[in-house]
Amino acid sequence: MAKKHQRAAGIAFSALLGWAALCASGTTQAQRAGSYEPTYGQEGKDVIWVPTQPATIERMLRMAQVTPQDVVVDLGSGDGRITIAAARDFGARAFGYEYNPDMVELSRRDAEKAGVAAKTEFRKADIFDTDFSHASVVTMYLLPHLNVKLRPILLNMRPGIRVVSHQFDMGDWKPDEVSDVSGRRINFWLVPARVEGDWKLSFPGHDYTLTLRQEYQMISGWMAPGPGQMGLRDAVLTGAAIRFSMIDEQGKLLAFSGMVNGSRISGSVTPQGGKPETFSATKSAQ
Ligand SMILES: C[S@@+](CC[C@H](N)C(=O)[O-])C[C@H]1O[C@@H](n2cnc3c(N)ncnc32)[C@H](O)[C@@H]1O
Repeated sequence: MAKKHQRAAGIAFSALLGWAALCASGTTQAQRAGSYEPTYGQEGKDVIWVPTQPATIERMLRMAQVTPQDVVVDLGSGDGRITIAAARDFGARAFGYEYNPDMVELSRRDAEKAGVAAKTEFRKADIFDTDFSHASVVTMYLLPHLNVKLRPILLNMRPGIRVVSHQFDMGDWKPDEVSDVSGRRINFWLVPARVEGDWKLSFPGHDYTLTLRQEYQMISGWMAPGPGQMGLRDAVLTGAAIRFSMIDEQGKLLAFSGMVNGSRISGSVTPQGGKPETFSATKSAQ
């Protein structure tokens, strides 16, 4: 298992190195103010520096639908280009966390030149030892095993937080969208609400137990009592938004649509051919 993991990480690392060589060849790095000049493929704490190209950055931030209301955090921010683009082109407040202090200084200088010093903040930090829970959008260009290491932290964030990874996936947490820009893969996820368990669900004249099973954003389940368990169909969890349908004891389709807020779900239930009514559900203690 460990060998398999090392081999996969090695392949990804080689791909990153190959891309570094491709970026460096035939590319004249812009001369920047200050004495420090980074080199493609230079050592980093857990992963080398290879910058994301502008068209890929634009697609990453568009996939996340970044607006001026967002707080964008780039984990392993290199020369700060994703952070700077989020502030300059999308009006977001943007942070870059980078282990290499020279890159942090370079990022600050480039943000100044881009006129977004006030909207950006760069910190010398180890991303595995840093709180980034203030983010509404998290971006990264790391390595597959580093993404997997970040996964529990990301899944613990507020439902609906948008996560974008240049090139690499997140193990068995499948992306909600995959895009491609000139051969560069971009993965997008919405942090799903945590809904696994039993819920007491009520609407006028009806009380059910709703049981939800969850694997990341994939949900399934059933409702009871009834003639045994009545399975859910078309169950979809999108961040904190949940919807599912159920055929009730009379054979009528009930369509539920609601928002998850911690241990409560509230929303509307529409019986086939009928009018919507409000429903609420409360999570049972486990
Ligand atoms: C592949 S580069 C991506 C840079 C930037 N995000 C981009 O897309 O242009 C990865 C960056 O992560 C930094 N890094 C590696 N390990 C880190 C860690 N544990 N904490 C913070 N930064 C790290 C490296 O120094 C490098 O600048």
